[in-house]
Amino acid sequence: MKELSQLFKNNEKWILNKTFSDPEYFSKKAERQVPTYLWIGCSDSRVPANEIVGLEPGELFVHRNVANLFLHADLNSLSVLEYAVSVLGVQHVIVCGHYGCGGIKAAMENTQVGIVDNWLRNIRDVYVTNKADLDQIKDEKRRYQRLVELNVITQSKNICHTTIVQRAWAKKQDLCIHGWVYNLETGKLKDLDCTINDPSKIDPIYQIRD
Ligand code: CO
Repeated sequence: MKELSQLFKNNEKWILNKTFSDPEYFSKKAERQVPTYLWIGCSDSRVPANEIVGLEPGELFVHRNVANLFLHADLNSLSVLEYAVSVLGVQHVIVCGHYGCGGIKAAMENTQVGIVDNWLRNIRDVYVTNKADLDQIKDEKRRYQRLVELNVITQSKNICHTTIVQRAWAKKQDLCIHGWVYNLETGKLKDLDCTINDPSKIDPIYQIRD
């Protein structure tokens, strides 16, 4: 259990580090959280949400799952989104995918993995929806990267289609939904420029009015 005892040692060091310049660091953080952002990212251990964007505990509300999906029947994601938007009042929802995503790669192949295949089915749907564009890309690595990007764009649209986001917009709450990609090889974030901040930008079939 040496590996685990090391984690507790790391924790002690972390506490010392945080309280060195601010002895009240934890008591202040414990009072409340006021995050401005909700991050929806991949579970991949190489994509640590807070660290990438240099934010402290309390500044970024985080939800992560395999391949950063936001599905309409997923009670977990819906609960996170509703709490972030309606209670915490976040102003930005960021869907962040990453190049080199194992979930996206598995969805492009036909090998059975397990339960996760049912989850990855949603990425295969993204592929089918964009089949004409994707099949034109002959370079496999580039096609794989493009599917990572298209998946992010699709999930950010899924978020916009929820009653949660549309109710917030109807109440004139400032709320922008963004799609970003993280590059594991360079550490760099890329904005896919697919930001949506009002219902006129979504397909009319998804617009819900009171
Ligand atoms: Co991933």
